[in-house]
Amino acid sequence: MIRLSYLSPKTEVRESKIHGRGLFATADIAKDEIVAVKGGHIVTREVLQREIVPKLGPVEIQIDDDLFIAPVTDEERELSMLYSNHSCDASLGVRGEITFVAMRDIRAGEELTHDWAMTDDEDYSVECKCGAPNCRKILTGKDWRRPELQKRHAGYFSAYLARKIAMLDAGR
Ligand SMILES: C[S@@+](CC[C@H](N)C(=O)[O-])C[C@H]1O[C@@H](n2cnc3c(N)ncnc32)[C@H](O)[C@@H]1O
Ligand SMILES: [Zn+2]
Repeated sequence: MIRLSYLSPKTEVRESKIHGRGLFATADIAKDEIVAVKGGHIVTREVLQREIVPKLGPVEIQIDDDLFIAPVTDEERELSMLYSNHSCDASLGVRGEITFVAMRDIRAGEELTHDWAMTDDEDYSVECKCGAPNCRKILTGKDWRRPELQKRHAGYFSAYLARKIAMLDAGR
């Protein structure tokens, strides 16, 4: 079976201390190297919530206000999952909307994580279990609005969020 998503040959999926399974580096990865590219179907929020999440769980990446990329069948689930957990001290950022790159040099063995603030513009609030010293404990779907995260992740937000941040800055 050809995978829907791309995972770098320098990665493997295994049990994570953060949650379930996670994505790990099996070799050193250089800053800005491509680690994963999310593949799947392009679906609206309505289809995601009605058809996909109840059946497959959290499998999507948000790519615009009302658009998500996700597998839609059981068979596609494993072929599309990236297994990148959230961390408040994330190592991956986004190039465009579906390409995940290293935000810094990463050493073999490290868990590969992204900060949901870089991809999400949603209405949720969840407890974070990342365990990082700088953990913000409660994550919300509006964390992209936080100035300290905008500064810290500059250049690594999903393109649709980078545009929103630029528009906010222009109005400031
Ligand atoms: C796409 S899955 C990531 C892969 C997941 N660990 C697995 O085994 O399927 C995203 C889900 O992982 C969990 N998760 C990931 N990072 C988390 C974190 N920092 N704190 C709490 N839950 C997290 C949440 O349940 C979230 O809905
Ligand atoms: Zn955290």
